[in-house]
Amino acid sequence: MDKCKALKKLEEEIENNKGLPLLEANLVFGEGNADCKILFIGEAPGKKEDELRRPFVGRSGKLLEKTLCGIGISRDDVYITNIIKRRPPENRDPSKSEITAYTPYLIRQIDIIKPTVIATLGRFSMNYFLPDATISIDQGHVFKVGEYFVYPIYHPAAAMRNKKTMAEFKNSFKKLQLAIKKCEGLNK
Ligand code: URA
Repeated sequence: MDKCKALKKLEEEIENNKGLPLLEANLVFGEGNADCKILFIGEAPGKKEDELRRPFVGRSGKLLEKTLCGIGISRDDVYITNIIKRRPPENRDPSKSEITAYTPYLIRQIDIIKPTVIATLGRFSMNYFLPDATISIDQGHVFKVGEYFVYPIYHPAAAMRNKKTMAEFKNSFKKLQLAIKKCEGLNK
């Protein structure tokens, strides 16, 4: 089955699972190029994402797109999703049980896409792959997790709140192409 069909099937499966938490919100499955090298994984959809059923379409998404554009990559080149596929009420942090409920689908989504590198945005997605990592220390570095390479980046919302974080956020994007080359080399 081709990747797009497999993703569509997975999306329908999540939509049909009425045992999942946060069913009062819309499903925001993810979008982008299924043949991408970079898969971005954020935390959870916000209000705008819930309305439009698309990931990273609010202020954080604008910063993500602008920063990507700055390194010569368009949003259409990458795939973007979240660790939690529905918006928690009032944008509260996702709970452990919500993460547990949605991550089997995330893993299947990753296994379909098979990106060169998984770029996590923020600590929730980073700590899913790297439970002991600290974002201020580990962002901007490549880690091998199972068969995948994980590259933690600050969440764009955190970058917008703090100048130093913004500088480090931008710097991790500047190093992203090099990180991809490194992962490609290690995969040979
Ligand atoms: N923040 C996230 O983590 N994900 C989105 O889709 C939007 C904002």
